[in-house]
Amino acid sequence: MPTDAALNQFFDLLRFGSISTDSKYKDQIVACADWLKDKLNAIGLEATRYETPGHPIVVARGPRRDGRPTVLIYGHYDVQPVDPLTLWQRPPFNPGLENGIVTARGASDNKGQIFSHILGVEQTLKETGDLPVNLIMLIEGEEEIGSPHLAAFLAAHREELACEVVAISDTGMIAPGHPTFTYGLRGLAAVEVTATGPDHDLHSGIFGGAVENPATVLARLIAGLHDKNLKVDLDGFYDDVKPLASWEREAWQHLPLQELDLLKMTGAPALRGEKGFTALERTWARPTAEVNGIGGGYQGEGTKTVLPSKAMAKFTFRLVPDQDPKKIIEIVQDYFHRNAPPSVRLQIVPGHSGEPYLVDPNAGFGLAAQKALGRLFPGKKPALIREGGSIPIVADFKSILNADTLLLGLALPDCNAHSPNETFPVAHLDLGQNLNRYLLEELAEGK
Ligand code: BES
Ligand code: MN
Repeated sequence: MPTDAALNQFFDLLRFGSISTDSKYKDQIVACADWLKDKLNAIGLEATRYETPGHPIVVARGPRRDGRPTVLIYGHYDVQPVDPLTLWQRPPFNPGLENGIVTARGASDNKGQIFSHILGVEQTLKETGDLPVNLIMLIEGEEEIGSPHLAAFLAAHREELACEVVAISDTGMIAPGHPTFTYGLRGLAAVEVTATGPDHDLHSGIFGGAVENPATVLARLIAGLHDKNLKVDLDGFYDDVKPLASWEREAWQHLPLQELDLLKMTGAPALRGEKGFTALERTWARPTAEVNGIGGGYQGEGTKTVLPSKAMAKFTFRLVPDQDPKKIIEIVQDYFHRNAPPSVRLQIVPGHSGEPYLVDPNAGFGLAAQKALGRLFPGKKPALIREGGSIPIVADFKSILNADTLLLGLALPDCNAHSPNETFPVAHLDLGQNLNRYLLEELAEGK
């Protein structure tokens, strides 16, 4: 168990409604960044809050000495929106602890995980007055909106942020008690499409049949994104997809996370997706086209016989190595333009994007990271996995700082990230605290 003081501080961190996508929460975002800066200073790091055109970035540094590696620990203090609020068992920014489980928005993603690193650094500094590596902690407030200002920040602060390796705990463990090392992430490309037919809503009796319904048109276009095998049916979409390695397919079959677990976690009546691949393969190593939101026409009680003027849908395409988000956006735009009938005007607005990531888990500092995970769970070999989620800045750490990233996540598969009732086991604060210590020690050794 963490100390009462640590738990209270964790709750303080969770109380900030730091929703990055919603400008109503700007004050909470800024207050959260300040809280982190103060906490990092209080444990003996030198922390600064940097302004960006968006939300602040907090950077903290430990004592520096020549001859040891510089490690950058990255995390984010922003969180996803909380709606639908009615499904939460407690208010999302009023954290609670019950049966060893902390519930709050951001509990796992990413406040619990980044806070456990802070606890680890705090402990080591308290005990030894030093750290085994030169440490930089960088905690941003825009990860959940695609980190729009962080790459420019990295480029502008290239020298101060120079490091040998980046470590991130913003991914998952495949099962409780099972050390997990993630060596790949999917990328993504977001697009919003609006189909406009008539210039105002029409009486569907007077005009239905004469004027084509934009909601129907959009539904047809959405349906055309997949073929009958549930492959994405866009020309060129799979051109750059790297095939799964046979060792991955083999190893993933034996993980303690299988289709039945996913079925239970999701509550879906059945799993279904691209033919020829298992569910884990589909989420970790195959690209997808997802509708994240869809709307248009009358949504109120009862019936309104209307032919809506507009319909819209928000899409994200999850991408795998070596797909290029820019190329995918072009492919998507081309699909919609070519297939839209003359009865609608389409507006296609690209959103944020991020490149996929893949490294050799057994190269570079990967082995040191696996050793640290092995010490955390003695006698267990870390599972080597990819994840289906995205952390867009990881590709920029490589291209701008020339540093590979180690992904050592502590979130459980059923943590409800991005969903109502997000959780983090309180014991994982201790786990993360220890992981931080072992990791910094192993990285210092593995130099
Ligand atoms: N922590 C997640 C990324 C993640 C999720 C990694 C699941 C591994 C497994 C991160 O905070 C996140 O949700 N990222 C967004 C990025 C997007 C908004 C650009 C995502 O993946 O949707
Ligand atoms: Mn996250």
